[in-house]
Amino acid sequence: MKRILIMDDEIEVGNFFRHLLEEKGFNIKTAVNKNEFTTLISELSFDLALIDMKLPDSNGIQLLKQLKKSQPMCKAIIMTGYSTVKTAVEALKNGANDYIEKPFDDLELLEKTLDNFLSTEYISNRTETNQLATTIGFIIGENAAMNELAKLAEKIAKKNINILIEGETGTGKDVLANFIHHISQRYNQPFIRINCGAIPETLLESELFGHEKGAFTGAVKLKKGIFEIADNGTLFLDEIGEASLGIQVQLLRVLETGEYYRVGGEAVRKTNTRIIAATNKNLVQAVEEKTFREDLLYRLDVVKLNIPPLRKRIEDLNLYLNYFLQKVNASHLTFSGESLEIMRNYMWPGNVRELFNIVKRAAALVDEGETIVTPKYLPEKLLQNNHQNEDNYQMNDEFESFITSWTKNILSLWDGHNDIELDDVLFSVKELEKQVGRSFVLKSLKNHVGDRKKTADSLNITTRQLKYLLNEKGKI
Ligand SMILES: Nc1ncnc2c1ncn2[C@@H]1O[C@H](COP(=O)(O)OP(=O)(O)O)[C@@H](O)[C@H]1O
Ligand SMILES: [Mg+2]
Repeated sequence: MKRILIMDDEIEVGNFFRHLLEEKGFNIKTAVNKNEFTTLISELSFDLALIDMKLPDSNGIQLLKQLKKSQPMCKAIIMTGYSTVKTAVEALKNGANDYIEKPFDDLELLEKTLDNFLSTEYISNRTETNQLATTIGFIIGENAAMNELAKLAEKIAKKNINILIEGETGTGKDVLANFIHHISQRYNQPFIRINCGAIPETLLESELFGHEKGAFTGAVKLKKGIFEIADNGTLFLDEIGEASLGIQVQLLRVLETGEYYRVGGEAVRKTNTRIIAATNKNLVQAVEEKTFREDLLYRLDVVKLNIPPLRKRIEDLNLYLNYFLQKVNASHLTFSGESLEIMRNYMWPGNVRELFNIVKRAAALVDEGETIVTPKYLPEKLLQNNHQNEDNYQMNDEFESFITSWTKNILSLWDGHNDIELDDVLFSVKELEKQVGRSFVLKSLKNHVGDRKKTADSLNITTRQLKYLLNEKGKI
């Protein structure tokens, strides 16, 4: 007999589930505090646990971790209030299989969810997810971060919550969005993609919300907007970071209320569209720079899925190569060891898209009868690549974030100092500039044991500039 553990500080909740599930032949145990929970899981093994998120003496995530540690095979469902969807998502990341929202209004849905986890056929293993994803055209591979991401994507796909996909260009944001749509309950409804950077703002309102006949000159007939067409389906807002502030306001309004009007229309229309947004920009930074609305980011970023760049999951190179070779009907080809080595060391700024292009290119170039793709069929830029590139890349990353945080720290210094004069600040900035220049030169001179020529070269300046920097700042 399957054993289920209900953990909720409200006794009524335990009773409710006891009533609901005992008559279906399940063995129910209830706990109302952390102690009881700990005792029960140390004494008995469970098939399923329902854990309340908010508890007076603990929190759901803590208990969930404890459970998963001692009984990894036990399925866990978190119970949460609607306002805590973000924490529920946190629970999914920590191993919960699902979450249900309190109060339990929709009993049918609740029973369906429970049945799903309790049925003997329930298996959700990696192979199965991977196969399903491959069928849809989304390769997950062996990489741990990609697997975590896919697992989370699968859990939230069926929920009606917004998703934000982050990733460099070509990492597969489109394919991931498409995958989520296909495994959601909306799979047989439209999946509509719009590129937020590409729609002119003047067209946008009627594009998004549609217009009535005669709403404006040229509106000769009624037009349905994207929100209307994608109703019950998924709307993929690609390159959301490129959306103008005007567009952001329009989106925010409909996301907040779920309502909109057709241009020239008087009837309020409701939308049940699920939003997946994607960006290759850092939106938190964009918010700081005031190019992206914080309230909109908050609405979109209920769950964030960050796709790692290809260079960070290069262990899956072969898998992608085989997949793409098959796609371009070139399965007879194999990449030589040397080619593979070159590709493993390349930084892939264009990520999977770039890889796909390289496979297409090689398939077209390889001489007839040839089955091995040697380095001569790879583009020049791959051949020039070496480990130094990698170092540079990381240095640049580090350097950029150093400069950003350096500037931020300085700027934050006068937070709350309203009485500071601009003139004084600008004067200090000039002084600072001199000091920075001087300290760079001095440090470098020391490294080059006083050799001015070498110092200038290493700083990418002329010896004249070096002299100038030093002269102006006194003698060493
Ligand atoms: N995980 C993946 N599995 C299969 N193909 C992928 C994957 N990621 C990217 N691709 C392929 O790479 C190309 C770029 O993917 P796309 O989703 O458009 O990237 P992005 O939207 O992040 O720029 C597409 O041809 C896509 O099919
Ligand atoms: Mg894209």
